[in-house]
Amino acid sequence: MNHGRGVPDWIGSIWRTIALLSIFQCVTCWQFLKSSPNVYQRPLSSENISWQEAAARKRLETYNKIPQQWILPEDVLEAAKSHRKITGSFIEALLDNETLKITSLDPVDILEHIRNRSFTSVQVTTAFCKRSAYGHQLNENLLEIFYDLALDNAKELDAYQASHNSTIGTLHGLPVTLKDQFHVKGVETTMGYVGWIGTFEGHKGTGKERIIESELVRELRSLGAVPIAKTTLAQALASGETSNNILGYTKNPVNQELSCGGSSGGEGAVQALRGSAVGFGTDIGGSVVVPSAFNGVYGFKPSVGRNAYRDAANAERGQTVVSSVVGILGPSLASLKLMFRALMSTEPWRYDHDIVPIPWYEELYEQSEDSEAVTKLSFGILESDGSVSPHPPIRRAMKIAAKVLEKEGHKTITWDPPSHAEGYDIHYGFMDAGGYNDSFTQLALSGEPPVREMMQDIGYRTKTPMPILEYFNLTIRLKDYRNRYADYWKSMGADAVIMPVAPHAAVLPGGNYYTYAYSSIIDALNYCSIVIPVTTADQRVDKFDGKYKPLNDIDKKNWQAYDPDIYDGAPAAVQVIGRRLEEQRLFRIARAVDEALRRHGKLFGA
Ligand SMILES: *[C@@H]1O[C@H](CO)[C@@H](O)[C@H](O)[C@H]1NC(C)=O
Ligand SMILES: *[C@@H]1O[C@H](CO)[C@@H](O)[C@H](O)[C@H]1NC(C)=O
Ligand SMILES: *[C@@H]1O[C@H](CO)[C@@H](O)[C@H](O)[C@H]1NC(C)=O
Ligand SMILES: *[C@@H]1O[C@H](CO)[C@@H](O)[C@H](O)[C@H]1NC(C)=O
Ligand SMILES: *[C@@H]1O[C@H](CO)[C@@H](O)[C@H](O)[C@H]1NC(C)=O
Ligand SMILES: *[C@@H]1O[C@H](CO)[C@@H](O)[C@H](O)[C@H]1NC(C)=O
Repeated sequence: MNHGRGVPDWIGSIWRTIALLSIFQCVTCWQFLKSSPNVYQRPLSSENISWQEAAARKRLETYNKIPQQWILPEDVLEAAKSHRKITGSFIEALLDNETLKITSLDPVDILEHIRNRSFTSVQVTTAFCKRSAYGHQLNENLLEIFYDLALDNAKELDAYQASHNSTIGTLHGLPVTLKDQFHVKGVETTMGYVGWIGTFEGHKGTGKERIIESELVRELRSLGAVPIAKTTLAQALASGETSNNILGYTKNPVNQELSCGGSSGGEGAVQALRGSAVGFGTDIGGSVVVPSAFNGVYGFKPSVGRNAYRDAANAERGQTVVSSVVGILGPSLASLKLMFRALMSTEPWRYDHDIVPIPWYEELYEQSEDSEAVTKLSFGILESDGSVSPHPPIRRAMKIAAKVLEKEGHKTITWDPPSHAEGYDIHYGFMDAGGYNDSFTQLALSGEPPVREMMQDIGYRTKTPMPILEYFNLTIRLKDYRNRYADYWKSMGADAVIMPVAPHAAVLPGGNYYTYAYSSIIDALNYCSIVIPVTTADQRVDKFDGKYKPLNDIDKKNWQAYDPDIYDGAPAAVQVIGRRLEEQRLFRIARAVDEALRRHGKLFGA
């Protein structure tokens, strides 16, 4: 989301001061608790403690779930601070051979190794628990750790395989992480709200945390997947950066000068560090595609009605005209397709009223293999949304994508659709319509302040809800916009559209004022999107262009935020857009794009 508009400076500085003070208090508290880790016990709910103390205790409690033998030495943590990139060779150098081998494989391969008994589920789960524990110590991205439950789970799977001589399902033994919106039985969900600590979604004493599991988690378990941890997220899900009062600000592990994105930023960071085989996030304005792009991993955001959202926590959940969806992040396109196909095989529409009964038609997917339909595709190419131009690394990624497709004989056409500024404005209207009543209600439970990133997102002011008739009008505007966009799409005869995910590679801390614009459109239109990493920012090539004439103030601000040195090494991705409910077709098209990039990317400087 994020639409900081017309913000009086003095309001901003008040919130900044409050946020800074709170972070300071948190840090002090944390240091104290860290020095005496054994004294901590969960407070009784009657205990009256400050939100700072509650947050610090929660943070420490999570840290203490890491087994002693996986605690990294102080000098490694120090070294991590002076390395810009802690993914890849940095974290790999810390791992033993088996952990490295297992966690480096594609999830598709891992599953095959479990099926043919080259690995046990316990081996695989242990490897990812260990790697995610290292990742957490280097990057602090987990709100919940439950390795003990995961290992019990893996043992059961091994026992099942031994006694039945078969696996329990398609995802037998695959360790996954989930954004801390999903309920896992026996594990707390805070969604980053201090007031949710020791409660079920803010309610004390219901005992529901012991009973309720999100439908998505139930499906994953039925397929044999093993949830191992839950990832941090933007407070109130309202930012393109990830920050909350429990874990603080999460950096980008690929380039620690930058943000890991949001709101599913913890998941993006975990995937970049390969702390799980695949991860799950949610997206209403870019919260899956943005962290995927920023952390250099693959991401999939379906249209509304595909992946089950039932019994998951959310913010402002009564607003469903533009609805949040469950997306997937992972190390390859094949892994995302595997997950989506597996989930569809559980027939989620039988368990979640909001899901449409569209199975995965594997035969259709395979038949499309060599047909004209995928060898001669037509791609709309949108290089800029007409309001804010992407930075040089993103422009280059877009050029590379177009060139490799042309080289493969696909057609590229200039995409000049109904104004994205209009779509962004409508999207903003829906995000804003409720005045963030729910989010502020949850913050009030503990008295914690909104973090800077959330305040920036909502324009630094609380709002009164929109009157219902204005809301109806906004809905009419959205319907009209969707139809005009669809008409344009039809008139162009495109198979898919390629566009930036954001007008920059990962955003600079505090620079999240237009991060969501390119992705919000896709949620407003209810299309589906797949993020494909293309290249990384290279200061020798992606120079700052001082002669560029900005189109407006935000464009100017964005353009000037580009620093080739700071951005060096940051992942640059594109998103491939498909029409509503055409996820399967999008997967096939995205594969053509991905393969073209792997075949010819180098030729064009990827
Ligand atoms: C908890 O502390 C707050 C602030 O110090 C105080 O206003 C409130 O009355 C206390 N509540 C209880 C139950 O002690
Ligand atoms: C781990 O792998 C490296 C490189 O392949 C090898 O030299 C080393 O002996 C291995 N270590 C163990 C404990 O197997
Ligand atoms: C098991 O599957 C993996 C992945 O396909 C393969 O590399 C390995 O050789 C197989 N091992 C056996 C014993 O079949
Ligand atoms: C177990 O299954 C494999 C492959 O499905 C089969 O080749 C093997 O004979 C089975 N072993 C037993 C003991 O049934
Ligand atoms: C939310 O809305 C209710 C009903 O209008 C109101 O009483 C309450 O004060 C609002 N809460 C916040 C935090 O805005
Ligand atoms: C809704 O739109 C109609 C038509 O543009 C307009 O006449 C009416 O005043 C609007 N209603 C509200 C409450 O904004």
